[in-house]
Amino acid sequence: MPAELACFEERCRARFPITEIIYNCPRCGGLLEAVYPAPEGHPADWKRMWRDRRMSNTPLDQSGVWRYRELIGFLDDYRQVVTLREGNTPLLDAPRAAQYGGLDRITFKHQGFNPTGSFKDNGMTCGVAQAVRLGARRVACVSTGNTSASMAAYASAAGLDPIIFIPHGNISFGKLAQALEYGARTFQVEANFDQILALVRQLAERLGIYLLNSINPFRIEGQKTIMVEMMDQRDWRVPDWVVLPGGNLGNTSAFGKALREMKALGLIGRLPRLAVIQAEGSAPFFDLYRATDRSRLNAVTHPETLATAIKIGDPISWPKALHEVLTSGGVVEKVTEQEIADAKAVIGRCGIGCEPASAATLAGIRKLTAAGTIAGSADVVAVLTGNVLKDPDYIHRYHTGTLNAPDGTLLRSTFANPPVLVPAEANRIAALLGE
Ligand code: F0G
Repeated sequence: MPAELACFEERCRARFPITEIIYNCPRCGGLLEAVYPAPEGHPADWKRMWRDRRMSNTPLDQSGVWRYRELIGFLDDYRQVVTLREGNTPLLDAPRAAQYGGLDRITFKHQGFNPTGSFKDNGMTCGVAQAVRLGARRVACVSTGNTSASMAAYASAAGLDPIIFIPHGNISFGKLAQALEYGARTFQVEANFDQILALVRQLAERLGIYLLNSINPFRIEGQKTIMVEMMDQRDWRVPDWVVLPGGNLGNTSAFGKALREMKALGLIGRLPRLAVIQAEGSAPFFDLYRATDRSRLNAVTHPETLATAIKIGDPISWPKALHEVLTSGGVVEKVTEQEIADAKAVIGRCGIGCEPASAATLAGIRKLTAAGTIAGSADVVAVLTGNVLKDPDYIHRYHTGTLNAPDGTLLRSTFANPPVLVPAEANRIAALLGE
């Protein structure tokens, strides 16, 4: 039995050929997921094989995504793969951040070490492989910046034409610069992410362009390997919590699916709990989680946050993400602009750094330990989703005391480290350095 697409809705579960170009279930409109027959072999043998592949010089084995190809078996020919050696991101200890977050210890899984600087690369290598397999010439996405940077790179590397749509004035400069440099046709649209997504879905159908938004189930498959690689790096010791930022909720869906599948295959014995953190001004998933009726998500019409990566009011993958949070006994939390800004500076002081959306994790952890939801002694992995250089403007503003929240209030620069303007005079500088 080959891989198939299946409707995620429990009451439908209709199945379709893996090569059908559909983004939602044609029967009920539900989200789609890739499903597979169980791979042959024994968990202990796979674990050894994956470890051995780290010594290999084969591009497929060197990729932190395709190394685990037994768990993402939707292709029938691996010559369709373009890899930029994505994944392979480190687990980093950060004692200062742990202390700030109210924990004895914290580990960051830093996805900012990816080729284009975010976790999107894990998914994009899979999405683009599927596009190649389907014979697509043009691929498109709507993005708050990282998806577009990643798609531009992988599509260009594969010889496809990338077309990207971004909210005008609302993505960080580093991300826009990447899209241009990697050769994407770039449209800045005067609308927010959710509005542009509706527009692009229409255009994709009309013009026969393959869509590589996170609704694309193959991208979710690639993002699963973030959890697989993390478990491999931890010698398969399951953490108590995995904490991640939530925007469109593709990553939450991917992590939950990966963890459930690893448990079903006997690779891990239990599930870690997922904690999804949203920015206060863009927190529809937090509201849903707290609601008594969880059958419908109420979109936030005007989402606001300086963490532009997660400035999304109508997250497309919420049904999957809700399922994963509830199945894992997880939680959803929200944090303020001030909390994100300060947590980000603390992560920076650890010598690690990340973009604003990623710092929501540490801000959320601080809140959840204070509330007693996460124990101080818990084994916590926080996923830093993007590189520190994605949004240098935010950093400069924070450290020079000029960072304004979307409502105009000036944020406190609690950990400010402004540059100091000095004349070219040794004596003056020596005095400043405490001589
Ligand atoms: N962190 C970063 C750095 C992101 O770029 C995103 C999403 C998220 C977190 C949230 O992940 O959507 O899976 O819940 N960025 C998308 C983009 C929306 O277009 O680049 P999610």
